[in-house]
Amino acid sequence: MQWPKLLNSILKNTLSKSIQYGTEVLHQRIPYSHDNPYLEGIFAPQRQEHFFTDLRVEGQIPAELDGALMRIGPNPITVKNPRNYHWFTGDGMLHALRLKGGKAHWYKSSYIGSASVQKKLHRPQIPGKSRGVADAVNTNVINFAGKIWALVEAGAYPVELNAALESKRHHLFENGQDLPFTAHPHIDPETGDIHAVCYDALTQNKVFYLQIDSEGKLKHQVEIPVKHGPMIHDCAITKSQVLILDLNVNFSVRSLLKGSMLPYQWNPKRQARIGVLPFGGKVADLRWYEIDPCFIFHTVNAYDLNTGDVVMDAVIHSKALVNSIQGPIEAQDIRLERFIFEQGTGKVNRTVLSGIKQEFPRINDAYTGRPYRYVYSISFGEFDDPVHISSNRLLSHDLETGNSESYSFGANWVAGEVIFISREGSQAENEGWLMSYIHALDGSPSRVVILDAQHMTEGPIATIYLPVRVPVGFHCNWIDYRELRTHYS
Ligand SMILES: [Fe+2]
Repeated sequence: MQWPKLLNSILKNTLSKSIQYGTEVLHQRIPYSHDNPYLEGIFAPQRQEHFFTDLRVEGQIPAELDGALMRIGPNPITVKNPRNYHWFTGDGMLHALRLKGGKAHWYKSSYIGSASVQKKLHRPQIPGKSRGVADAVNTNVINFAGKIWALVEAGAYPVELNAALESKRHHLFENGQDLPFTAHPHIDPETGDIHAVCYDALTQNKVFYLQIDSEGKLKHQVEIPVKHGPMIHDCAITKSQVLILDLNVNFSVRSLLKGSMLPYQWNPKRQARIGVLPFGGKVADLRWYEIDPCFIFHTVNAYDLNTGDVVMDAVIHSKALVNSIQGPIEAQDIRLERFIFEQGTGKVNRTVLSGIKQEFPRINDAYTGRPYRYVYSISFGEFDDPVHISSNRLLSHDLETGNSESYSFGANWVAGEVIFISREGSQAENEGWLMSYIHALDGSPSRVVILDAQHMTEGPIATIYLPVRVPVGFHCNWIDYRELRTHYS
């Protein structure tokens, strides 16, 4: 390693350790309170990992599915003071339901082996260096370059897992670079390249755009200058460009002093903007479009128009992370919107596609970056706080006709993120299945449901009854075991 690089690395490490220490001292002064809804009810963490076979199934699991439905989320092993525990910071736990040959083979839950998790569980550290201020890896799980990766934003490296859900190493895929990653990269269905907009919690003046090839090797990187350390949870890609979301939640010293373990807060004073950068481009090629204050956790999709204009659909929050230092559920308007960025005029046209409060939008991933028709999401009910959560509905939007359909599992059930799995050899965009973990408000064990995407309102074609409760969490993906380079039954 060269001296300037080494010095930089030592400085960063020292700064990171000082902030961790300072924050710990600060947090010890916060009065103790048991009161945290994100540790109770459907959020309550499981006390141990589980493995079960012989699962009860109702209906018919599609025989061609050979993989696992993986869902990741926070599951803190210990919480020093619930009063300032933030849901986004809990130790990561992965839940997987293995399906093959029309049968449910097993359900397993497993902690993501980040350094602090291994320490708390008295397990040996996994290879690779832990990175970032906080090392919980709890937000997304993907199959990329033939391997399973657990992801988080704000600095920590992805954690590679094998098909038995064992954590193998911390690494930026197949690269040695000291760079942050994100929980929401987007894979180009044609090239297999992964595109990501990433930030480090400690760096307030720049974010990174990374393009990594289908073998996991870094192909292109751009340092993008920003102000105030914005939280950037997601990005979007078209066939030729990446969209960068520089919006109204940013690093906040005030929030840190309030004792927040996630010191990011709503800031209506900063100019919200969305950048459009051509693949392979430099900072000079980046074009910013200014928009009214808002926050976007999740984009739906984006695509180029022949005119040079760019379309981006996203779930828009009128505001986010305003008051609570425990989690994101508070009073706000949420809607599905279409943005058209006009290359000629620099204007942004916005239209509401659906006014229903909803989140976790998903599509048929083969249409990423391309014109598309169907969006699947879950409604958020009318609750504005995590104590009064009620049941929700699966939503399916047809953007061509403007019609939306919904399905409820009943008053006791909250559906987590729903994903779309394409049927092999399918012709139509919506020919395939929807899958989701559903969670009982009365604390009963959770279920996995499979629905025919073209007949969602008819309800599940298969329900798999899990023997335990799966806490409500973050993202879900279908990991096709035939695409993995490690074998597991
Ligand atoms: Fe997310």
